[in-house]
Amino acid sequence: MKRRNLKWLRIELPVVAALLLFAVLPAIAKDQGDKSKPPTPGASIDTSQYVGSDTCKTCHEDIFKNFEATPHWKTTLNHKGPEWQGCEACHGPGKAHVDGGGDKSKIFTFTGAKTEEISKRCMSCHEFGEEHANFDRSQHNKNGVSCIACHSPHHAKERQFLLVEKQPLLCYTCHTETKQDFSRPFRHRVDQGLVQCTDCHNQHGGFLTKQLRATAAQDQVCFKCHADKAGPFAFEHEPVKTEGCISCHSPHGSTNPRLLKRAQVNLLCLECHTLTQDSGVPPVPSFHNQSQKYSACTMCHTTIHGSNFDHFFFK
Ligand code: HEC
Ligand code: HEC
Ligand code: HEC
Ligand code: HEC
Ligand code: HEC
Ligand code: HEC
Ligand code: HEC
Ligand code: HEC
Ligand code: HEC
Ligand code: HEC
Repeated sequence: MKRRNLKWLRIELPVVAALLLFAVLPAIAKDQGDKSKPPTPGASIDTSQYVGSDTCKTCHEDIFKNFEATPHWKTTLNHKGPEWQGCEACHGPGKAHVDGGGDKSKIFTFTGAKTEEISKRCMSCHEFGEEHANFDRSQHNKNGVSCIACHSPHHAKERQFLLVEKQPLLCYTCHTETKQDFSRPFRHRVDQGLVQCTDCHNQHGGFLTKQLRATAAQDQVCFKCHADKAGPFAFEHEPVKTEGCISCHSPHGSTNPRLLKRAQVNLLCLECHTLTQDSGVPPVPSFHNQSQKYSACTMCHTTIHGSNFDHFFFK
């Protein structure tokens, strides 16, 4: 519990700072809300307030050039109204800003905007498809992490996907505890680029806890790469299916070989297979020596994830 509280504190600090900023600048924040609404499909739009990206280019040439080199240039091919095209698709109508000689209070700026307002703008085009459709329900959205915490349309360090930083560094900037998980002696080689955080998690949100992804067949994400553990087996080891891989493994990293949760495999087994018959789990037979000093349970029970040949997982 204590550990978790600390983590919250750390993560909330920037959020608190951002909130304070809003307390100081309420007038500006409010103003921003009024002056340029995001393009809402179906809403009546005064198209005379849009000037087109070529006009923006005259004063913001660097940004324009950069914009042309990102996938967002494709918005200028949009056959829908001007509110869906180029610079103004994100920044809203620019006429007042231009008429004011670049009056920055007359255009939507992302800096200092509310996180939900930012994400709403991006989502007006990106809410479709299963990848992003659930952003609203994500822990990221609920905790004030907007699209531009990870993406930057103009200053992306990582051109592919317009990321502010590449994985896993991007994720570690906030998830410092997770960084420690992956520096344990046994771990998924995320730091080496063999496996990515986003192979297992949907950073944009989804239906499962911990923003976990599932395979196409809606099974545990682990089966995507460890298909041999999926079975079906004639003799299933029940917890693999009912409690999942994490009942025995630490998915990120562990001080124990095979990413096991316990240092001794015997202790792991004995957590469920006690000496006495209680919770319906078969007790360890009396002829078994219980102590971890003796041979590992998996010496004999080798096919621990399930077997097609043997009830007791001997082969
Ligand atoms: C006549 C020149 C001019 C044109 C045309 C122009 N801008 Fe600007 N814009 C400026 C200037 C100058 C600033 C800086 C204002 C400041 O720092 O006070 C600015 C600032 C901005 C900012 C805010 C930057 C910040 O500090 O957060 C945005 C966003 C912006 N412009 C977008 C646009 C868009 C989109 C267009 C086209 C619709 C556009 N501008 C067209 C001159 C122009
Ligand atoms: C996909 C949405 C999007 C589009 C399209 C877009 N912008 Fe931006 N703009 C942003 C965001 C988000 C920021 C905040 C900085 C960042 O994250 O890159 C920003 C920041 C700015 C700034 C502030 C200064 C800076 O360098 O950050 C200016 C000026 C600006 N945009 C102008 C433009 C112009 C001109 C165009 C068209 C050529 C344009 N933007 C197209 C989203 C967009
Ligand atoms: C916590 C960080 C994070 C947040 C928040 C986030 N993204 Fe992403 N996004 C990523 C990463 C990382 C990738 C690249 C994934 C990969 O390498 O496969 C990505 C990929 C994408 C892609 C391209 C790939 C695809 O599946 O279409 C789009 C578009 C995108 N994000 C849009 C958004 C939008 C819109 C939002 C806000 C509603 C958002 N993202 C919020 C981290 C984030
Ligand atoms: C007017 C519609 C529109 C808006 C608003 C918009 N995008 Fe996009 N976005 C696009 C289009 C179109 C593409 C290109 C898709 C393609 O290449 O198939 C794209 C691509 C992307 C990609 C993928 C880049 C890659 O390398 O594949 C990311 C990331 C992204 N947008 C993030 C954002 C973020 C963050 C915002 C809000 C600041 C935003 N978008 C706002 C239309 C939009
Ligand atoms: C700007 C900070 C920030 C960045 C960058 C970030 N996250 Fe998060 N993330 C958070 C916050 C805040 C939460 C919600 C609080 C919590 O559960 O820790 C969260 C929650 C999560 C959760 C859900 C945890 C749970 O207990 O349900 C996962 C999984 C996650 N993030 C993965 C990622 C991945 C993968 C990346 C990189 C692509 C990433 N995050 C980048 C801030 C961030
Ligand atoms: C091999 C799959 C896998 C990879 C790769 C992975 N995770 Fe996880 N992660 C999980 C699973 C499974 C859980 C749920 C653990 C639980 O419920 O006990 C989890 C839990 C989390 C949580 C919730 C807090 C916690 O530790 O339980 C966060 C935050 C998180 N992961 C972030 C990340 C980040 C950031 C990366 C990349 C640096 C990453 N994960 C890579 C599978 C993975
Ligand atoms: C994107 C593919 C991928 C996903 C998804 C994945 N793994 Fe892995 N896993 C690997 C690879 C590759 C290795 C081999 C690691 C190495 O050699 O560094 C591995 C190794 C392991 C090992 C250690 C094997 C050994 O011999 O020490 C365990 C245990 C493991 N994974 C469990 C899991 C669990 C549990 C999940 C789901 C939470 C999962 N994996 C999801 C790719 C994946
Ligand atoms: C009942 C506990 C238990 C569960 C549940 C479990 N494992 Fe294991 N797993 C083990 C043990 C014990 C070992 C070590 C076996 C050995 O050392 O011979 C192991 C080893 C592994 C290995 C490395 C050796 C090999 O056989 O490839 C991988 C990969 C692995 N498990 C993946 C998974 C995945 C994926 C899941 C979920 C589908 C899962 N495990 C569920 C106990 C479990
Ligand atoms: C998370 C709890 C859990 C853990 C940990 C666990 N098991 Fe099991 N095990 C079960 C359950 C539940 C069953 C199925 C009972 C049934 O079918 O009635 C089972 C079944 C078995 C069976 C087959 C028994 C029979 O009569 O068919 C063997 C053998 C076995 N486990 C050995 C092990 C070994 C060895 C380990 C350690 C590597 C282990 N188990 C770890 C819960 C667990
Ligand atoms: C030397 C080989 C060996 C080792 C080591 C071993 N077992 Fe067994 N295990 C057996 C045999 C033999 C059976 C009985 C098969 C039968 O009844 O035909 C068995 C049966 C079981 C059963 C099923 C009991 C039932 O009534 O259904 C469980 C559970 C079990 N072992 C758990 C464990 C655990 C936990 C460990 C580690 C503490 C372990 N075993 C270590 C050989 C071994």
